[in-house]
Amino acid sequence: MSLCVRRGFLWPAVDIYGGFAGFYDYGHNGALLKRRWEDLWIETFLGLGENYHLLDTTTILPEAPLRASGHLEHFTDILVTCTRCGESHRGDHLLEAVTHEEHEGLTPAEVDAKIRELGIRCPKCKGELGPARPFNMMFPLAVGPAGKELAYMRPETAQGVYLNFKREFEALRRKLPLGLAIVGRAYRNEISPRQGSYRMREFIQAELQIFMDPATFADQLPFADVAGVPVRIAWAAEKAAPTAQEIPARELVARGLPAWYVYHLVEVQRFYLDLLQVPRDAFRFAELDEKERAFYNKIHFDVQLRQESLGGFKEVGGVHYRTDHDLKGHEAISGEKQSVTVGGTKIIPHVLELSFGVDRNLWALLDLGFSKGERSILRLPARLAPVSAGVFPLVNKDGLPERARSLHDRLRRHLTVFFDDSGSIGRRYARMDEIGTPYCLTVDHETLEGKGVTVRERDSQRQVRIRDDNLVSVLSALLSGKTRFGEQA
Ligand code: GAP
Repeated sequence: MSLCVRRGFLWPAVDIYGGFAGFYDYGHNGALLKRRWEDLWIETFLGLGENYHLLDTTTILPEAPLRASGHLEHFTDILVTCTRCGESHRGDHLLEAVTHEEHEGLTPAEVDAKIRELGIRCPKCKGELGPARPFNMMFPLAVGPAGKELAYMRPETAQGVYLNFKREFEALRRKLPLGLAIVGRAYRNEISPRQGSYRMREFIQAELQIFMDPATFADQLPFADVAGVPVRIAWAAEKAAPTAQEIPARELVARGLPAWYVYHLVEVQRFYLDLLQVPRDAFRFAELDEKERAFYNKIHFDVQLRQESLGGFKEVGGVHYRTDHDLKGHEAISGEKQSVTVGGTKIIPHVLELSFGVDRNLWALLDLGFSKGERSILRLPARLAPVSAGVFPLVNKDGLPERARSLHDRLRRHLTVFFDDSGSIGRRYARMDEIGTPYCLTVDHETLEGKGVTVRERDSQRQVRIRDDNLVSVLSALLSGKTRFGEQA
C-alpha cells in the first residue's frame, strides 16, 4: 500500500478528511494501469466469440428487477453486533479469525452456535456479541424529490445485461451464443471492508454473460483444441490447502463438468498465465460447494491468485453457470417473455458468466509483480505498465537534453512516455523500475553520431542500441508481445 500511495497508484478516498472505509481512488499511474487492464480484458473476452459485444447500462436499478433476480431476498451476509460497543462484524470473519478456516454459507443459527462453542467475544472491546442476523448488502436509494421510488445501487453489472438481453438478441443476429459484457461499477455495503482494495463498497467489475443453449453450446466450441490442456484446480474439499492439481481439460469433462464450462476455464486460465503473466503456481480455480456458492449458481469455481499481502490464495473472479435463473426471474416479475427461438427450438437461454473484479485483479498484479531486494521493482506485463518508456539524456550537456526532449515529444504522441533528466541515470532507472516501466531509452553521445539510443529492459537490465527513427514501431511491437527484446537490435 505504501508503494501504491507513493507512486500514484491507489489510496483511500477522501483521505484529507480521514478516509471513507471501503472507498478508494486511483491516482495517475493506477488509472492508466486500470484502463490498460480493462482494454486487455475487453479484447480477450469479446474475442472469444464473433457475436460478443460490450454494453453500458445504468448503475441504479429500481426494486422490481432486484426482487426478480433474488438479490432482495438472498444477497446477504451474516451480521453480528457487539452488545457493548455496537461494533458490526461479519459472522464468518469472526469464526475465520479464530479457526483460520473459511466459514461461508452458514445460517445465522449456525454462526450463533459456533460463536458460543468457540467462546468468541467482540474483537474490539471484548464485549458480548448479539445474535447473528442476515444483512442485505445493497445500498438503498430514494429516487425522485418525494423519494417515493425505492431503488438500489447495482450490486453486480450482470443485471444490466439481463435487462437488455431480449433487445440485444433482436438487434443483433438472433443467434446463440450471444455474449454481452459490461465493465463498470458495482456497489455493496460490505459489513467490514478491509485488506486494502480487496473488499470495497464501490468497485469495478468486468463481466461477460454468455447466453447459450446448454444442450448445443459445446458443439459450437473447438473443445478438441484444448482437451489436453492441464487446468489448475482445487476441489471444494481441498481448497484450504495452498495447492492445486493439474487436471487435463478432457478429464474434467469425464468427471462431470460440461465441456463448454471446461473450455472457458481453459480460456480464463490462458488469460492469467499467458497475458497477465501470473506465475503458474500462483493461479488456481477453487470449486465452491453447494453451501458456499452464490444463490444463482449451479456450477461455481472462483479464480484465485496467491498474494503475499493477503495471506494466500484469494478470489479475483469467478466462472459461474447461472442457468436460466435470471432471465426466468425477470420474465416472472416483468411479465415480458424472455424466451427466444433458435434453430426451431424455443428456449430461455442459460447463462455462463465470466466475472472479474477489476480492483482485485489490479491489486493482485501489484502484489505479484512487486519485489524489494537490491532493486525495488514492479514486474507488470509490459502492455499494462502505466508508463511504457522512460526517456533520459545520459548527461545534462553537449546537446543531449535537447535531443532527448525532441525524442520524447515525438514518442508521446503514440505512447505514454516519461522524460527524466534529474539525478543519476541509476536513480532514474530505479524510479521507472518501481512503477513497472518496461523500457528506458537513453540518449548519449553516440546518438548524436547517428548510432541510435540505448534501450534497457526492466527485468533483465539488458541494453541494446536501436535506431531512433523507428522507435515507435519497435516499442509498439515489444509492448504488444509481437517481438521479443533483443530481436530488433
Ligand atoms: N455477477 C457475479 C458476481 O457479482 P461475485 O463473486 O459476487 O459475483 C464478482 O463478484 C467479482 O467481483 C469477485 O470475484 C470479485 O473479484 C469482485 N468483488 C466482489 N465483491 C467485491 C468487493 N466488495 N470489493 C472488491 N471486489 C469485489
